Amino acid sequence: MKQLNVGLIGCGSIFPMHAQSLVNTPGVIIRTVCDIKPFRARKAAKKYRCSAYLDYKSMLDKGDLDAVHILTPHYLHPLMTIEAAKRKIHVLCEKPIAIIPKDADRMIKACRDNGVKLGVVSQNRYNPGSKLAKKYISNGKLGKIKAVKLVLSYHKPDSFYRKSDWKGTWDKEGGGVLIDQSIHFIDVLRWLINDKVDYIEANIANRMHNSIKVEDLAEGIIKFKKGTYVCFYLINYYSYDDDTEIELDCEKGRVNIVKDSARIGLYNGIAVNASPRPDEYIDYGKGRKDYWGFCHWIQIKEFYKALRNNEEPDINGAEARKTLEIVYNIYRSAKQHKRIYLD
Ligand SMILES: NC(=O)c1ccc[n+]([C@@H]2O[C@H](COP(=O)([O-])OP(=O)(O)OC[C@H]3O[C@@H](n4cnc5c(N)ncnc54)[C@H](O)[C@@H]3O)[C@@H](O)[C@H]2O)c1
Repeated sequence: MKQLNVGLIGCGSIFPMHAQSLVNTPGVIIRTVCDIKPFRARKAAKKYRCSAYLDYKSMLDKGDLDAVHILTPHYLHPLMTIEAAKRKIHVLCEKPIAIIPKDADRMIKACRDNGVKLGVVSQNRYNPGSKLAKKYISNGKLGKIKAVKLVLSYHKPDSFYRKSDWKGTWDKEGGGVLIDQSIHFIDVLRWLINDKVDYIEANIANRMHNSIKVEDLAEGIIKFKKGTYVCFYLINYYSYDDDTEIELDCEKGRVNIVKDSARIGLYNGIAVNASPRPDEYIDYGKGRKDYWGFCHWIQIKEFYKALRNNEEPDINGAEARKTLEIVYNIYRSAKQHKRIYLD
């Protein structure tokens, strides 16, 4: 098996989940890391015994890379992806693919034109709970999904935002609780519902944060063409990070997804559950096994399997763009105070 050389751009909070996942993926090696903050780049390079760059273009030019992971502020995802694609380097980009769908289109095109794959992280699709729900929806045992309830209540105090020069800004992050914390769950729901959006009607507000201008609350409805509607309520000013609650009310039963697990109760009396097995966890460093879902390493392993087989990654640019389109139109609806119909 040819060893694949990998580089990582951005050595911040999500970096360990990617680096430890790569250590646990056969046939790949971390060749180089990059961060504009020299201390972060050097520390990461020392730990993973690889080279360090402060400038990502130099890294892409000289790193001899097969693939690069983009773990940087959201506004940089399009530029960095396109620069990697031009150099024929495959890309695994953290969520969200971009801030606006047009930029996602440019990324998808650049990768397609240069014959490289584009994967986008949405690790919660790989949770046992999400996979069980997908199986029971796909095989028809639950019947049509009538409605979905999504309630997210996290704790991101002003101090969380004050530590960052990009989080909580419209231009660099693209929003707040919606595009950052909630996009994971919007993505899982869209994947489970597997239908086109009819319309979106939503509100956003900033209720509790003084140091940011973006929303810390988003609520509304996403109505899908075949009738399913999602009612969502998302805040990040709660007093702790509560478990996100997702309920799918289906014709033949109900699905309750909590964290990585799910319980399905069918109206014929049958109940099934799925939770992570102990052997599915890896150590992301300092004993940490979980990070908004523990499945980074599963998605990363699948991404490299797809590269080896010259197949599209499960969550490619086009898939990630569909979720971004929903997020983008929630913002549009809220800012324009109107219902937005999608084609
Ligand atoms: N999938 C998940 O569960 C999850 C969780 C957290 C963050 N994320 C995503 O990961 C990405 C990074 O988030 P984070 O929390 O690690 O942010 P962070 O601010 O902790 O880290 C970002 C790093 O990028 C570096 N950087 C900025 N500009 C750069 C440039 N031009 N070249 C090289 N490095 C540069 C910064 O110095 C910083 O070290 C975001 O897309 C975020 O949404 C995903």
